[in-house]
Amino acid sequence: MCGIVGYIGEKQAYPILISGLKRLEYRGYDSAGVSIFNKKVKVFKKKGKVSDLDDFASKQDTAGTVGIGHTRWATHGEPNDLNAHPHESMNGHFILIHNGIIENYSKLKEKLIDRGYNFISETDTEVLANLIEYIYLKGKVSAEIAVRLALSKVIGAFGLAIICREEPDKLIAARRGSPLVIGVGDGEYFIASDATPIVEHTKSVIYLNDDDVAILSRDGLSLKTIKNDSLTPKVQIIDLDIGEIEKNGFDHFMMKEIFEQPKSILDTFRGRVSLDKMEIFLGGLYNVMPKLIEAKRIIIIGCGTSWHAGLVGEYLIEDLARIPVEVEYASEFRYRNPIITPDDIVIAISQSGETADTLAAIKLAKQAGATVLGICNVVGSSIPRETHAGVYTHAGPEIGVASTKAFTAQVTVLAMIAIVLGYERKVLSKKNYDELIKELHAIPTKIEKILKSNNNYLKVSKLYKDATNFLYLGRGYLFPVALEGALKLKEISYIHAEGYPAAEMKHGPIALIDEKMPVVVLAIKDKTYEKIVSNIQEVKARKGIVIAVVSEGDTIIKKLADHVLEIPETKDELCALLAVIPLQILSYHIAVLRNCNVDQPRNLAKSVTVE
Ligand code: G6P
Repeated sequence: MCGIVGYIGEKQAYPILISGLKRLEYRGYDSAGVSIFNKKVKVFKKKGKVSDLDDFASKQDTAGTVGIGHTRWATHGEPNDLNAHPHESMNGHFILIHNGIIENYSKLKEKLIDRGYNFISETDTEVLANLIEYIYLKGKVSAEIAVRLALSKVIGAFGLAIICREEPDKLIAARRGSPLVIGVGDGEYFIASDATPIVEHTKSVIYLNDDDVAILSRDGLSLKTIKNDSLTPKVQIIDLDIGEIEKNGFDHFMMKEIFEQPKSILDTFRGRVSLDKMEIFLGGLYNVMPKLIEAKRIIIIGCGTSWHAGLVGEYLIEDLARIPVEVEYASEFRYRNPIITPDDIVIAISQSGETADTLAAIKLAKQAGATVLGICNVVGSSIPRETHAGVYTHAGPEIGVASTKAFTAQVTVLAMIAIVLGYERKVLSKKNYDELIKELHAIPTKIEKILKSNNNYLKVSKLYKDATNFLYLGRGYLFPVALEGALKLKEISYIHAEGYPAAEMKHGPIALIDEKMPVVVLAIKDKTYEKIVSNIQEVKARKGIVIAVVSEGDTIIKKLADHVLEIPETKDELCALLAVIPLQILSYHIAVLRNCNVDQPRNLAKSVTVE
């Protein structure tokens, strides 16, 4: 949700800022801007993509070795040139970019108007720029002090990069709630919302914590809190390869990420699932394992696709380990006064590790004394730092806004947890435990096989790309997959789609079915196979179009359905990992055929750092 970059050093800032913004564009892409300091401050901003900004700004004088850049996902004020960041304070002393929301901005704005300030944008960010400037001029203090004093008056979330016109050899960065990483180079520093724009310049980074303020100059960095306590910067080396954030020959990141799944799942269980020893070992949960094994209740929280993975987790843990599980949208959980006890285990699932609602729900659960675990993809992000213990999914950077490989990695982690708990709690026999381990190992090869049918998916996609509605049906482990398939389609192709438990169809959605309605039915040979065959018949009796995901070699559904997409057989407990793949590919092709921007769908952002 909004991408921030900054640079101070000896190199030209503009190319670094633009290439950094392109890497962060998944965080927001409705407008973009840069500000460069070279004797005077220049600000260039444009509605639209970073490439629109570049078309405009590259024709201007962009020389300078200090600068900040921003790609926006609008919260306050529509996406236009005026509301785009950077924002200048009224008298031009401060220029800043901001990710987050200043919640008390209207009160602050009123006070500033009373003191003679005018506003040209509708943003909360301009209020902050003016507040800093007001304190700076009135108090005759340094830029750093003005920033810290202003931030102590602010309620809300911010990741900030700030230039002061009178102190041009400095960049000030500050964070509360919105992520910020500082890249440490040789006589140069980088600021970014995550490490992806930094990694091509340096692997040494400092992750800012809430209420940290960093003052960067070519000679060094000073780190302190908003309250002026000095801090010792902790430089870490990031393990991120530039190749992982390129498209590598694919037209879109989403397709690259779909095709990466055999490898990303392998990376998720690498070093954790051993066929030699026939065991699963989750180092990140080692200390909390006794508590987990004894747990009376597990609450899983997440948003979007991560919530869908959580639903699969509920089925897995209840089925294999017999521990009651509740799955909650983090945004509901945090505001609905939930009952949380110190005996509860809360598992927070998040690809980015930055989702504001999930982060707030974690804090709430911690306050209530629960043990909070994280399942996250981005190493060093806020959620793993906030939780008591956890498991990284190690799926590699996911850049396409529609989540694909993160989902299968999250389900893989949840499957590992459920299998270990099942065995330790003596619900699973050694034989079943071993069989599940072997089958988990076989999943990447089975996904490779599914990916070979890509052309088949393209053919089906061409037939239904103009449909206005889709229904997705599944039972048991495949109900959450139906939800995820519908989400994939609607978010990238803008076709309305609903996921439903197959049997629930009779209680409403069946009324929608006619000869124009494609119904994707997840109908593999599991224990509800006969039931789902009946559901397919119910759809066909109403002239619906059935696209069925079936087990290889199925002959019964082949006769009933309009199209079948075959997937290899697997154990019921792991079928979500295979069944979701055809749905991801189907939605990808349909979106491409409809000329939609697959990697950056309208109105969405990859990392939702506002509530
Ligand atoms: C956004 C993304 C989704 C993601 C959700 C939760 O809506 O577009 O792909 O599933 O946030 O994000 P998280 O990073 O917490 O998994």
